[in-house]
Amino acid sequence: MSSFASYPSLSGRTVFVSGGGSGIGASIVEHFAEQGARVGFVDIDEAASRALVDRIEARRLTVPLFVPCDIRDVAAYQRAIEGVAAKLGTITVLVNNAARDDRHTLDQVTPDFWDERIAVNLRHAYFAIQTVAPSMKRAGGGSIVNFSSVSYHTMTPNLSVYQAAKAAVIGMTRGLARDLGGDNIRLNAVTPGWIMTQRQLDLWVTPEARAAQLNAQCLKELLHAPDIARMVLWLAADDSRLVTAQNFVIDGGRI
Ligand SMILES: NC(=O)c1ccc[n+]([C@@H]2O[C@H](COP(=O)([O-])OP(=O)(O)OC[C@H]3O[C@@H](n4cnc5c(N)ncnc54)[C@H](O)[C@@H]3O)[C@@H](O)[C@H]2O)c1
Repeated sequence: MSSFASYPSLSGRTVFVSGGGSGIGASIVEHFAEQGARVGFVDIDEAASRALVDRIEARRLTVPLFVPCDIRDVAAYQRAIEGVAAKLGTITVLVNNAARDDRHTLDQVTPDFWDERIAVNLRHAYFAIQTVAPSMKRAGGGSIVNFSSVSYHTMTPNLSVYQAAKAAVIGMTRGLARDLGGDNIRLNAVTPGWIMTQRQLDLWVTPEARAAQLNAQCLKELLHAPDIARMVLWLAADDSRLVTAQNFVIDGGRI
């Protein structure tokens, strides 16, 4: 028996998640499935995404709908979102989770690299919101969760374009919260600290980095994807019905 909350308002709700195939996104997909939500998600990693669907199906939860899609292709992405809505019903929860945190130095960045990093870390979120907003409005409202990052607060080295995009996520969230608030559409940002996803473990979690992280956090425990997914559930549920234009930092007290 879980000691964590369940949300009756999420049962049967249609939720869309970008980058839901692995990492934090996969945990978000699984957490919404546990709530009885109808989840659609996109990812470029087809193997991981299909394995996730199989895992959720094996648990006899509501099976999510996976649509392979590269979110850098805005037109294809908008078609994918509309396809999910056609199959699962009006999307009233949108989670803009997908991103890519490859390292880069100032001298390596070309205009094409800049555009591609902005496309994968910021642009898709804006156009996903543009796609779902009209039907959310007709449905009487919705909740949109955008992903930022602590990395621009902590000044993590060699991530400047990613950090520019993740700082912009906050501005986009607040601006659109104002524009869409009259239609009862809520927008909030989530700022994860350092989350121990498989990608982070494979690429960057050394014993030294782990120790430094714990030293920097107030709470002496490393964070995992479900710690973020549970915040996303709350922001999607009616429990947060008058919360909008905010940024929620889940980092164990790092910044
Ligand atoms: N893990 C962390 O420590 C951390 C820290 C701060 C912020 N975040 C943010 O949290 C969110 C999730 O991060 P994560 O660590 O799970 O990332 P991740 O890299 O582990 O997973 C991202 C997912 O997005 C998918 N994706 C990447 N490019 C795509 C594309 N072009 N089209 C479709 N799908 C694509 C990947 O295949 C993957 O499944 C991101 O917005 C990230 O910036 C993570």
